[in-house]
Amino acid sequence: MSQLTIQNLPELPYALQEAVNRLRININFLGNEIKKILVISTFPNEGKSFVALQLWQQMAESGSPSILLDTDLRKSVMVEQYGMALQGGGSIKGTSYVLANDISIEDAIFHTDMECGDILPNVDNVVNPSMLLESERFEQMLAYMGEKYRYVFVDAPPLDLVSDGEKIGSLCDGAVLVVRSGVTSRGMVKNSIRQLERAGCPLLGIVLNRVESAKSGYYYKKYGGGKYYGSRYYSNSYYYK
Ligand SMILES: Nc1ncnc2c1ncn2[C@@H]1O[C@H](COP(=O)(O)OP(=O)(O)OP(=O)(O)O)[C@@H](O)[C@H]1O
Ligand SMILES: [Mg+2]
Repeated sequence: MSQLTIQNLPELPYALQEAVNRLRININFLGNEIKKILVISTFPNEGKSFVALQLWQQMAESGSPSILLDTDLRKSVMVEQYGMALQGGGSIKGTSYVLANDISIEDAIFHTDMECGDILPNVDNVVNPSMLLESERFEQMLAYMGEKYRYVFVDAPPLDLVSDGEKIGSLCDGAVLVVRSGVTSRGMVKNSIRQLERAGCPLLGIVLNRVESAKSGYYYKKYGGGKYYGSRYYSNSYYYK
């Protein structure tokens, strides 16, 4: 398995680290049946990739074999944003390449510096990825990862974009819905929940992200903290089955 280094993993302030940690623990409580977890949102830029990456990192660091699967085949920026590079050089073949070509899924996955953390980012963004995501090969990819890892965190495109999110959700065991605080309306959130229901993908919980907090430091204030969903839409005990 090739080794991938992530050069720019962000250092999180304590409050945010703690919020992600609580989310991880709540996911652990969901039991052994919940393995493939879709991280999705209604709109672009709500923080899906950020939350998916943080969750994956903390889960791997806590010793649960976990993979981060990038299924944003239209406009993924993960490789550049987090400075991902192959050890020893060479070009990364990402999710869309693996889906479109007859290569071994097992060999295409990258191992990272974390003992329990593997990853498959997307590199070649494609104009019409629906065909790839609707293919049997994609089903096989998810099934393989579900067998091999304790957790598969699936970083997805937003639900408002065609039907990719619903399709991916239909193959996952549950979804974490990321909601950008103060931006996405209650009606839009409800609509996304209906879309997930239609896809047969149980809602595991909602992360209220990028919350402005007067009490916290600059970083937290500027970007907000990942936070579980509180009182506005569902009770915060929602993560417990
Ligand atoms: N809680 C947070 N704290 C700090 N930065 C955050 C937080 N949430 C998101 N960001 C930053 O906000 C930007 C948008 O987040 P991200 O790329 O994760 O959104 P996305 O929902 O995956 O967007 P897209 O739909 O385009 O894939 C990124 O630069 C990310 O690092
Ligand atoms: Mg993203």
